Amino acid sequence: MSEYITHEHDVLIIGAGGAGLRAAVEASAAGVKVAVITKSLLGKAHTVMAEGGVAAAMGNVDDRDNWRVHFSDTMRGGQYLNNWRMAELHAKEAPDRVRELEAWGALFDRTKDGRILQRNFGGHRYPRLAHVGDRTGLEMIRTLQDHGIHLGLDVFMEHTVVTLLKDGGRISGAFGYDRERGRFHVFRAKAVVLATGGIGRAFKITSNSWEYTGDGHSLAYHAGAALMDMEFVQFHPTGMIWPPSVRGILVTEGVRGEGGVLRNRDGERFMFKDIPPLYVNQTATSEEEGWRYTQGDKDAKRPPELLTRDHVARCIRREVREGRGSPHGGVFLDIAWIKEKLPNAPEHIKKKLPSMYHQFKQLADIDITKEPMEVGPTTHYMMGGVKVDADSQMSDVPGLFAAGECGAGLHGANRLGGNSLSDLLVFGKRAGEYSAAFAKENSSGAVNPDALATAEKQALEPFGRQSSENPFAVQHALQDLMQDMVGIVRQENEMMQALERIRELKGRADQVSVDGNREYNAGWHTALDLNNLLTVSEIVTRAALERKESRGAHFRDDYPAKDDQFGKFNIVARKGANGEVQLSREPIPSMREDLRNVIEEMK
Ligand code: FUM
Repeated sequence: MSEYITHEHDVLIIGAGGAGLRAAVEASAAGVKVAVITKSLLGKAHTVMAEGGVAAAMGNVDDRDNWRVHFSDTMRGGQYLNNWRMAELHAKEAPDRVRELEAWGALFDRTKDGRILQRNFGGHRYPRLAHVGDRTGLEMIRTLQDHGIHLGLDVFMEHTVVTLLKDGGRISGAFGYDRERGRFHVFRAKAVVLATGGIGRAFKITSNSWEYTGDGHSLAYHAGAALMDMEFVQFHPTGMIWPPSVRGILVTEGVRGEGGVLRNRDGERFMFKDIPPLYVNQTATSEEEGWRYTQGDKDAKRPPELLTRDHVARCIRREVREGRGSPHGGVFLDIAWIKEKLPNAPEHIKKKLPSMYHQFKQLADIDITKEPMEVGPTTHYMMGGVKVDADSQMSDVPGLFAAGECGAGLHGANRLGGNSLSDLLVFGKRAGEYSAAFAKENSSGAVNPDALATAEKQALEPFGRQSSENPFAVQHALQDLMQDMVGIVRQENEMMQALERIRELKGRADQVSVDGNREYNAGWHTALDLNNLLTVSEIVTRAALERKESRGAHFRDDYPAKDDQFGKFNIVARKGANGEVQLSREPIPSMREDLRNVIEEMK
């Protein structure tokens, strides 16, 4: 057996975004020995791309808000496929998690009377997004990192896990490499928390940076855990589209929350044209009413730009497809227009949306206080993930937990903006608490030397091959394929072709070769990421084929309506004994009566 650098902890957390850090804080506070592994550098996480705020029903701006409204908004946004217990815990616990963050040093924007300020966001009935300008995720990461580091975490930066280790049925650690030297490491642990974020890099246009290759989803699946709701991929309606080098970078929904409107090339506010029945009673029918809502008029209805993301993204796609798009294939997002209403509009915009101002000025030479932005949909978030127990976040592999974007359940068919940050606080904390408890109750599992040898051999195979197959070429082919055939609008024949092409790409991935040595070898790292990308892409496609209806973020041209039968179950993927993806339809447990009543009451 080779010599590996070996580490031993009670709880191993894979991923250092908001969920990973919040879990680490909680587990450390419970007195167990905790390690956090991050593929990248500490502080660099997709959490920072949730810019506009964290959703928590604190009622600071509108005192009609409370957990019941937040719960029912979240369920409606998720088209009732959500795990209702998670939605309940989330809505009830989010305010405390935000206040706790403030106590740890997060500097939120304030109301005039000194409370945490909250803004409007899509699908939230009242102003609910506690925010720090348009840098909320960044402030959260900074706070969690500062707080966590003082609790004595062991942090392994630029380390990547290639497989989870098991002792019989239960988890016993993880095996991976450091990117700097390419040395292999064994991380022994009594419990493992997956907090690796999403799968955005399976698509060509995405707000996700290079790390988000579905690692946690794939690690869990290959370790025997179930994945759920994988057909639901969120396309955020507003990403940058020009210049090409910045395509996909997020333009926060906070722009629309502050009064930004969407127009097509004819100057028409096209979002007024198509209001979904679920929202018809709460959506403004005039520009004036929409603006009054933005200004906090409690009797006004929300502007149609603040409908749910799936709907706004499809409306933008429609305008572009029907020839009413902007010059570079998107639509216009205009916040500059508020100068007609506010005398100090430029200062107001710069104060409320400082990152957006600088982002457009520096990357696109656009002054958003004077000109509209060009925007289009960008792959942003994965609703699907590891199927977990609502209270503890443990998967069906004992000792394996998941939180944040790589866990499933809270968001159902579609996530409301800002619910990602509250999700990672609420369920990151729970994952930390329950993983620490698991570690206290269980001894260390054994590590099988054969499993390590196999993982090492497979990881090194790309160095030994003579082929000319290039890992980046395979990754790009997959991204094009998923974007074109399993994107915002789907249909059976294209997805069948996609499956066939994914099979071919798997064959190519098995042949990729890399040059050079193991030190900072980006080609090698990409070769190893391919397994994860291909695993999740296949499962997304199979689940999307299985769901023969349109619901939330999953829209089928060939089944454009919602079908009540499909509203009764989640689609769950497991790795079958033959190594193939096995899908099952798992009934959604009937909702507790008190929660059913809340939903009825809110209607
Ligand atoms: O638009 C945004 O600021 C993104 C927020 C989120 O994804 O929750």
